Amino acid sequence: MPIYQTSTYAQEGLGRNKGWEYARTQNPTRAALETNIAALEGAKYGFAFASGMSAIDATLKLVKGGDHVLLGNNTYGGTFRLFNRILSHYGVEFDVVDTTDALSLEQYFKPNTKLVFVETPTNPVMAVTDLAAVSELAHARGAKVVCDNTFMSPYFQRPMEHGVDIVVHSTTKYLNGHSDSVGGFVALSNDEDAEWIKFVQNSVGAILSPFDSFLVLRGTKTLAVRMEAHDKNGRQVAAFLEEHPRVQRVYYPGLTSHAQHEIAKKQQSGFGGMVAFETGSLENARKVLDNVKLCTLGESLGGVETLISHPATMTHAAVPEDARARLGITDGLVRVSVGIEDVEDIIADLDQALA
Ligand SMILES: Cc1ncc(COP(=O)(O)O)c(C=O)c1O
Repeated sequence: MPIYQTSTYAQEGLGRNKGWEYARTQNPTRAALETNIAALEGAKYGFAFASGMSAIDATLKLVKGGDHVLLGNNTYGGTFRLFNRILSHYGVEFDVVDTTDALSLEQYFKPNTKLVFVETPTNPVMAVTDLAAVSELAHARGAKVVCDNTFMSPYFQRPMEHGVDIVVHSTTKYLNGHSDSVGGFVALSNDEDAEWIKFVQNSVGAILSPFDSFLVLRGTKTLAVRMEAHDKNGRQVAAFLEEHPRVQRVYYPGLTSHAQHEIAKKQQSGFGGMVAFETGSLENARKVLDNVKLCTLGESLGGVETLISHPATMTHAAVPEDARARLGITDGLVRVSVGIEDVEDIIADLDQALA
């Protein structure tokens, strides 16, 4: 697919265009990506945005002041910030709930609950939500379910197959896969909701550029081989860390010690490359982060290169301290986005940094 690097399209005559009018509204490169990822998610419609956050923001424009949303208690910090600091100004009510315990969710639904927003597995402690159970509960109460599928990508998890209504992504991560583009995506099948998301996309204009659309399209061509490599390395890094005497706890849904391992097996076809581990203190975490050589210290995830980060002060700094403590996002927690390098090299690097 070429990059249609244009803001407008020559029209054939007055009132006659070739299907393309203005590039905020439509662009052939973006349209190709939208069709592609919608297909990967098994959705009828797809919309590409300038970032994961703008995709989530557009999705949340499906609710109005006076509506109520149930928000998973362990979503990406920026998602929580969007609810807490922005949507609350517009009268959107929300409750932060533990979606990993699907049955306990029942009590939080209100007559005005319109959406349940979940992320699974979560960032960074890899908590897993049973998508089928939550969808059944929500649908019985007239609410729709949104799933942030960034960590698994459609290669390992297709939430709509489990009843989810809307899937959102930060394409910045696995879908693009090369840490060289920021983008977001909304996939859905309901005609009316899709019409509204399209209207929001055009009205607000937070679109993915033609060049970034091209980059993410390139990413989807290697998604399968990259995800297999992330998964293979992720399993080995998690197993290594679990045996390491200086590591107190490892969060990885592929480990049998993971609290929701069985649910993960049911709804995911792999476990991916995201691993978090507890070092016990800020001082210990700092020593690991300061001493890694192959792993790069940085925010973000899902690229071919291994990234390491400190959620409490980096990605989750916007989450209040007491909430972080409840979720296990301690000062000693370190998160690794395991890349596709030779796994021996990644393990040797973590080993020497822990030493
Ligand atoms: C799970 C998840 N959702 C959404 C986002 C936000 O995406 P973006 O940074 O592309 O706006 C992130 C970013 O880290 C994320 O990890």
